[in-house]
Parts: sequence; C-alpha cells; structure tokens
Amino acid sequence: MASSSSIDFKKMTVHILNDEDDLSSFECKNKEINDFIHNEAKQFQNERLGVSYIFSYEGKPVGFVTLSMADLRKGKMKSEDRLVIGKENYPALQISQLAVCAKLERKDIGTELCNFSLGKAYNFSEKVGCRFLVLNAKRDVVGFYEKYGFKLLPKQEERREPVMFLNIFDKKY
Ligand SMILES: CC(C)(COP(=O)(O)OP(=O)(O)OC[C@H]1O[C@@H](n2cnc3c(N)ncnc32)[C@H](O)[C@@H]1OP(=O)(O)O)[C@@H](O)C(=O)NCCC(=O)NCCS
Repeated sequence: MASSSSIDFKKMTVHILNDEDDLSSFECKNKEINDFIHNEAKQFQNERLGVSYIFSYEGKPVGFVTLSMADLRKGKMKSEDRLVIGKENYPALQISQLAVCAKLERKDIGTELCNFSLGKAYNFSEKVGCRFLVLNAKRDVVGFYEKYGFKLLPKQEERREPVMFLNIFDKKY
C-alpha cells in the first residue's frame, strides 16, 4: 500500500466521460496524457476508439483511464507466460492514458484504476474472450505496473513505451 492513504474509496465515484465533463483542471505529471485528456479524449470516444472513465473524489476528477480492445501476440511472449492452448493472438483489454492527478499521487488511486480495469476485464471475459490486460508503459512508471503484477514483454529495450501485460487469472481481485 502506498504511504498514508487518506482517500476513502467508498466516496470515490466513477463515470464514463461525457460531453458535460470539464477536465481542464485535471493535471497529472505527464504532459502527453494531459493533452489527450484535455483535447482528444471526447473525440476518441465518439469514434469508439476507447472509452474513458473518470474517477471523482469530493466532486473533483482525480483519476482517468481509457479502455479499448486489443490483442497480445503469443510469439512475443516468453514461453513460461504463454497459455497451453494453441492460439496465436490472445484477446486482451488495453489500458491507456491511466493517470492520477499530481496532487494526489501515492494514495493508492493508481492501484484503484488498475483494480477497476482488471474488474472490467473479468466482466468482459464472461461475454467476449478476454484473457490479458495490456498497456504501453511510460518508462518512468514501469515499476508501478510491475508492483501491480504486470510483466514486460521481452526485447522492449528499444521501445519508447515498452509493452506490459497481465494474465488476469494470475491476479486475485
Ligand atoms: C503512475 C501513476 C498512475 C501512479 O499512481 P499513484 O496513485 O501514485 O500510485 P499508487 O499510490 O497506487 O502506488 C502503488 C504502488 O506503486 C508505487 N509507485 C507509484 N508510482 C511509481 C513509479 N512511478 N515507479 C515505481 N513505483 C511507483 C507506489 O509507491 C506504491 O508502492 P507501495 O504499494 O509499495 O507503497 C501516477 O504517478 C501518474 O498518474 N503518473 C503520471 C501519468 C502516467 O505516467 N501514467 C502512466 C501511463 S503508462
């Protein structure tokens, strides 16, 4: 658990981004993500490229994550991480733009965003195939995702944003 959590998660609400949302005051530490949230997220969602979820606390947006469909190529994984079943591409749920407002970092909100995404992946997996969570990690947050249980795909050294994955049935929720 991150240090001195003062967040009462029972008071946290989550909703899907809508036209009335004003996220102009939301600032995380990553400028690229802020740009997406401020300028692109609504259009992205209108085009059905990704649905964004807003986490609010005491009436203010404090967390953000975009979910979309993806797949994970078996051939890119270490043999120990592959499933026994013979499928070349595993269905997955993609996490992107996961962000916590800078003033409230290290209070477990990022973990809450991952838990939420994992919960969605479990739910989806009962209706459509979904076995992994995947994401492209900013280099400085690889450790955060590793703590949660994500693994790096091999040979990601050259990539600006290495691919990470989590087998959703390896994680207790
Ligand atoms: C990365 C981010 C989402 C983490 O959110 P957070 O709410 O501060 O994370 P949590 O409080 O849930 O931290 C969970 C654990 O990860 C650790 N952690 C947090 N950020 C970390 C980082 N950048 N590197 C390594 N470990 C990290 C915490 O110390 C905590 O460890 P503990 O359980 O041992 O105490 C947040 O820093 C952020 O929004 N960053 C800017 C946007 C960004 O880069 N997003 C990632 C896009 S790929």
